[in-house]
Order: sequence, then structure tokens, then C-alpha cells
Amino acid sequence: MATERDYVLGTHDEELMRLGLQHRVWRPVVLDCWQRAGITVGKRVLDLGAGPGYATIDLAEIVGLSGEVVALERSHNFVRALKETCHARSLTNVKIHELDLMTDDLPKGDYEFSWCRWVVSFVSDPALLIKKLAGVMQKGSIAIFHEYGHYETWRFFPRLPMQEQFREHVIATWRESGGEPDGAPELPALLSANNFLIRSTTPHIFCVRPSDYMWQWPAQFIAVYLPRLMEMGRIDQKFADQVGADLAGAEKNPNSLMITPLVLEIVAEKIA
Ligand SMILES: C[S@@+](CC[C@H](N)C(=O)[O-])C[C@H]1O[C@@H](n2cnc3c(N)ncnc32)[C@H](O)[C@@H]1O
Repeated sequence: MATERDYVLGTHDEELMRLGLQHRVWRPVVLDCWQRAGITVGKRVLDLGAGPGYATIDLAEIVGLSGEVVALERSHNFVRALKETCHARSLTNVKIHELDLMTDDLPKGDYEFSWCRWVVSFVSDPALLIKKLAGVMQKGSIAIFHEYGHYETWRFFPRLPMQEQFREHVIATWRESGGEPDGAPELPALLSANNFLIRSTTPHIFCVRPSDYMWQWPAQFIAVYLPRLMEMGRIDQKFADQVGADLAGAEKNPNSLMITPLVLEIVAEKIA
């Protein structure tokens, strides 16, 4: 029986569903990014920290049977979910490895692209991750990242002080677990130290209204992470209820705005 390897956000069913919503919200941005980077039929893509594989599945459908996606993920629950989806969709071009990016070797393969989203924030040693990635990426291949650049951009207008306190708890718990929410800013130096040349850096930040689909991404995160913070003993029920009530109030106000956490897209080419 494999044991579950949890991490700060959790690998429970609600988080699995949340990752699905998050992917659907971000899908147009991601599809555009992959297309600009050159991912197409026949390509071989390495997906680092794939989670339940929502992006993996899209990638597998894009590269088709003449291509391949290799998904690396530590959580047994997420790996099982990804295997089930591949089976249900008869996808035969996905290889799945249940492994730890920090302690295990990355599988060798003639990858032409790598995809890494919201993973650098959670690994204990991003420098080691990039070194390992460089070890398996061939000259001319492209590494693509979508990672937080400045998590503190996340706020509402009119301001919601409790949400801002919630955001600070989020940042603190990620740091306590050994990660760093703003993983993207250190990537350019790490990449160039490992023979990658930065091809582009693009900020993705949105100002959304309650009626926008993108609103659901941070709103869903609040719903799933409040109980997690309570389990950790960081907040009590009263705090959670207040954050929930403030969010519900903001959703009823058609003049509310939300600035999303800044995500940086970094595309780099392996040059040696
Ligand atoms: C926020 S989720 C993102 C999942 C996926 N990349 C996506 O964009 O939907 C972070 C993922 O990284 C995985 N992860 C964190 N640390 C890891 C490690 N050391 N080795 C492998 N996977 C790891 C978690 O299990 C989780 O599935």
C-alpha cells in the first residue's frame, strides 16, 4: 500500500477539485503560452509536479499520439487520479512517475519542452530542481514556468482587511513548510547558471469582477484553505467565518474588484 505524501496545500479531494477549477480558469492563458512556446503535435513534454494532471491531459491531447507527456508527481492520490483520467480517455501517450522532485532522480528522455506551474513555491530547494531539470533537458529544448512573482498583489477593492490577513497566513504557512511563495523571481539567475537562456518573461495579473470566471480561482482557494489553516491551528472558526462573510459581501457588490496574485511566465531555452 503506497502512503500518501501530502504537502502544505493538501492532496485531499477538495484540493483535487480546486486544482481542476484553477486549471479551467487559467486554460486560455496556458494554451496561448504553450502555442507561443512551440508546443504542437509530436512534441515530447516533461510536466514537473503535475498534480492530478489537468495540464498533463491537455498537453497529451495537443501533442497527440506521435508525441509524449511525462508527468512527475509525488502525491499518490494525485497520481492515481491522473492514471484514472488517462485510462478513461484512452490516452496512451502519458507516462506517469510517482516521485519526489527533491530526492529522486528525474527520468531521462529526449524532452523538447518542460512545463512547471505552481511547483517552485513548494519545493525545499528550487536551485536543486533547476539543476536536475538542466540534467535531463537537451540543448535547444524549452523550459516553461508559471510561478508566483509577487503574491502580495492579491487584494480586493474596497479593501478587505481580513482577506489581507488571510493572505499573510497563506504566505507564512508556505514558508514554514519550507517553500517560498514568490518562486519566480529567483528563476532567471538559477536558469542562467544552468545553461538556460531566458527567452521571455511575461506577467499575468488580472483585475476581475465578481461576475468574471477568474474571480472563482482565488475565491475557491479561500474556501479550501480556510479549513486547512484551522487544522494547522493558525486561525479559529471566527476568523474563518469573517473571511468567508467578507468574501460573500464582496461577491454581492457589483462594484467590487479583485487584483489577482501576480504569476510570472518564464520561457527559457537550454543552450548547452
Ligand atoms: C499547486 S499544485 C500544482 C499542480 C499542477 N502543476 C497544476 O498546475 O495544476 C503543486 C503540486 O506540486 C507537487 N509537489 C510539491 N512538492 C513536490 C515534490 N518535492 N516532488 C514532486 N511533486 C511535488 C504537489 O504534490 C502538487 O501536486
